[in-house]
Amino acid sequence: MAARKLAFFLLSLAAATVAPASCGGNSTEFIRTCCGATRYPRLCFNSMAGYASTVQGSPVQVAQLATNLTLDRIGGAALQVAVLRRGASGREAAALSDCSEALADAADQARRTAAELAGLAAAVGPEVTWRVSNAQTWMSAALTNEETCTDGFDGVGPCPIKAEVCRRVGRVKHFTSNALALVNNLVATR
Ligand SMILES: *[C@@H]1O[C@H](CO)[C@@H](O)[C@H](O)[C@H]1NC(C)=O
Ligand SMILES: *[C@@H]1O[C@H](CO)[C@@H](O)[C@H](O)[C@H]1NC(C)=O
Repeated sequence: MAARKLAFFLLSLAAATVAPASCGGNSTEFIRTCCGATRYPRLCFNSMAGYASTVQGSPVQVAQLATNLTLDRIGGAALQVAVLRRGASGREAAALSDCSEALADAADQARRTAAELAGLAAAVGPEVTWRVSNAQTWMSAALTNEETCTDGFDGVGPCPIKAEVCRRVGRVKHFTSNALALVNNLVATR
C-alpha cells in the first residue's frame, strides 16, 4: 500500500516536470492552483476554468486571461453606469459622472496591463522585470480608480442606483484584485 502510494507520488512528480509550468497538473488544475494565490479563488477559478486550453499551463497566460476578463467586466460596469446616468439627477448624477470617468481610466489601465503582459513574450533580461513591474503598477491604479467610483457614492443616501453600482463595481474590484494577484505571482515564478 505504502509502496503504491510512493509509486504514485513519483509518477506525479514525473508528470509535474514534463508539464509546461510549475503549478503542476493539467490545465484545469493549473488554473485552480494559480487561483489559490488570489483573494477570491472561487471567482477566479469559475471565471477562468472554461479557458483552460488557451492558458496552457503558463503563468503569464493566466495573468493575461485574468486581465482580459477584468477589462471585460470594467466595460460592462461602465456601460451600466452610462445607462443609469441618463435618468439620474442631483448627487446621484454627479457620482455617476465621476464614476464614469474613473471607470474609463481603469479600463485604460487594464489595457496597458494587458499590453505589458503581451510584451513579455518577446522580452528578455531586465525588460521582463520592467514589464512585470509596469503591469503591477497599472493594475493597482485600475483598482484605485474602481475604489474612487464607489467612494464617490459615500455622500449619496441609500438608493437603488447606489446599491446597483456598488454591487456591480464591487464585483469588478474582485476581478481586478485577482488579476493583480496573478500579475504579482509572476514576480514569484520568475
Ligand atoms: C483535469 O483534472 C481534473 C481534476 O483532477 C479532472 O476532472 C479533469 O478531467 C482533468 N482534465 C484533463 C483534460 O485531464
Ligand atoms: C487577451 O486578449 C487579447 C486581445 O483580445 C488576445 O489577443 C489574447 O489572446 C487574450 N489572452 C488570453 C490569455 O485570453
